[in-house]
Amino acid sequence: MICMTSSISHVELPHSISLLEQMASKSIEKGPFTYVHSGAGNESTLRANEAAFEDWYIVPQYLNDVSFRDTSATLLGTTFPSSFALAPIGVQSIFHPEGELASARAAAACGVPFIASTLSSYPLEDIAANLGNTPRWYQLYWSNDEEMAISMVRRAEKAGYSAIVITIDTSLLGNRERDLNNRYSPLKLGKGAANYLHDPVFQGRFASPPSADDPEVIKNIVDIIFNPSLTWENLKTIKEHTKLPILLKGILHEEDARKALHHGVDGIIVSNHGGRQLDGCISSLEALPSIAEIVQGKIPVLLDSGIRRGSDVVKAKALGADVVLLGRPFIYGLAVAGEQGVEHVLRNMINDIDVTLALSGFASMKEVNSSLIRRKK
Ligand SMILES: Cc1cc2nc3c(=O)[nH]c(=O)nc-3n(C[C@H](O)[C@H](O)[C@H](O)COP(=O)(O)O)c2cc1C
Repeated sequence: MICMTSSISHVELPHSISLLEQMASKSIEKGPFTYVHSGAGNESTLRANEAAFEDWYIVPQYLNDVSFRDTSATLLGTTFPSSFALAPIGVQSIFHPEGELASARAAAACGVPFIASTLSSYPLEDIAANLGNTPRWYQLYWSNDEEMAISMVRRAEKAGYSAIVITIDTSLLGNRERDLNNRYSPLKLGKGAANYLHDPVFQGRFASPPSADDPEVIKNIVDIIFNPSLTWENLKTIKEHTKLPILLKGILHEEDARKALHHGVDGIIVSNHGGRQLDGCISSLEALPSIAEIVQGKIPVLLDSGIRRGSDVVKAKALGADVVLLGRPFIYGLAVAGEQGVEHVLRNMINDIDVTLALSGFASMKEVNSSLIRRKK
């Protein structure tokens, strides 16, 4: 059951993510809500992600003219209004029937870049059609079926996606205990199948058009999504097949940052997948400074996992992130009020970043640096 609340207006939507999260828990069924809310294992990394931001204080400096502020960010040659993009989140139709189409329209309304997941509920072409001129990137789960991976990259290029984000922390799915307890798997329900079902290579393998209602087809998809045999050498293959910039999502170790530079990657996303993959691993914010130190501005460094408010964005920026990705909060907005709910979350975030920047004593996000923050003793 999706209890849609299309009558909810902006005024009625809460301004804090925790309240929105509570509303989401009442708007959708337990399975989908737990799917977005939970993490792997005992969720220690999930908790650590948000807690890490509280280890840092902002130390503002005043009497700077902050009457005109520039919160924009430029990444891979594109400038957008605020220092965040939407994280790739799959299976969005389990939260709202319009899924990624609704969140894409909200992103377009706010000029916030969108990263479409391989496991989207709608085909990447349909998502692109709802994004207007908004920057969009395609997140690839590099399939163990290489022909499929390459076909998806080709389609993303054709649909105007301007970068490929390869998620490297999902050689297989994390042990998400709460989902397992609920016996809930959106992938097995065919909710993340659209990009496969619409793929010419995939279609060519069936006598009649493959359907999400066919358990054999879904099993076939689930079997090819991830690729535990991937190594750094495989990056060569993708580079042979696309001229688009490649970002690696899931870098947490300094050595991997070095390898990414060595292999000519165009950007790094410091991420632990929102604590959904390896429980007990380092929080993204904790991992960020030493990675930024290694990268030395040679390629963009992004961060996700735990971003909930403007001060998180400013702290991440001060610790070396060029841009951050917003994850769960926009899905709570989607669950409560579809496109309008996502837009509400994005506008709140844009405003909160602006207010935090001004009150920190900075007029431009580009000037934010480590002098702005201090670690708690
Ligand atoms: C419901 C859900 C689905 C996700 N699906 C994907 C995905 O398809 N591909 C991917 O790279 N990351 C996926 N992620 C991870 C996000 O891109 C991002 O790393 C994470 O949400 C950040 O943590 P936070 O939301 O707690 O800030 C998903 C996260 C959630 C919550």
